[in-house]
Amino acid sequence: MFPGVPDTASMSSLRVVDDLHVAAPLVAPSLLACDFARLGDEIRRVEEAGAKVLHLDIMDGHFVPNLSFGIPVVKAIRRVTKLPLDVHLMISEPARYVRQFREAGADLLTIHVEAVPDPRALLDEIRTSGAAAGISLNPPTPLEKLDGCLDHCDLVLVMSVMPGFGGQEFQPVALEKLRRLRKSHPNLLLSVDGGLNRDTAGAAAEAGADVMVAGSALFSQNDYGRFIQEMTGLARVGKEVQV
Ligand code: DX5
Ligand code: ZN
Repeated sequence: MFPGVPDTASMSSLRVVDDLHVAAPLVAPSLLACDFARLGDEIRRVEEAGAKVLHLDIMDGHFVPNLSFGIPVVKAIRRVTKLPLDVHLMISEPARYVRQFREAGADLLTIHVEAVPDPRALLDEIRTSGAAAGISLNPPTPLEKLDGCLDHCDLVLVMSVMPGFGGQEFQPVALEKLRRLRKSHPNLLLSVDGGLNRDTAGAAAEAGADVMVAGSALFSQNDYGRFIQEMTGLARVGKEVQV
């Protein structure tokens, strides 16, 4: 939790993004890999381990070939934590649901560029709702697809796996995208999602990532705090050699 900030749900989008920038590099636990039978405990454990944001993966069985959880679960998570909720919408028609996810407690809402013909109006709508707006792109999607969108968003979530499943191997194509984005937009918050672990954290941070989403590598540990510290340390070293 951020000191002096009692209620992240009411923070403005800019405040959340600024706080994440200041705290970067950081690990965003992806709850997809946690023990859902003990969801509240898992959230407490990652809070105690030093997590500063939670990553929530929403899958619709259509945009991605898998289902995860939806609005009632986000609402329930909101009730038990003050950490900012970074909601990753892997869904075909995000415009139909952004308001409900915002009302459920999302602080950041990320849509996929592949899911909408022109994301700009929706990104603006997300910002107007008070959430920070993120845009994500899949490994095969060229960076040029984001042309015209970057002024409308607060965060880019670079996918380093095909979305839909945790536990996949990191695809290095993400590194080149991070490098180019970091160079062209030095102040944009950059997040990377999929296959982040001790072997990939350094390279991701060196390429420009501020936030490393981690699911299976984190929740397979006994000691979440140690993992987060090690990942952050590796990322700091990576950032130092960032050119
Ligand atoms: C993939 C999701 C990721 C995923 C990351 O569809 O967007 O957030 O849970 O999981 P790991 O860290 O296992 O690759
Ligand atoms: Zn995700």
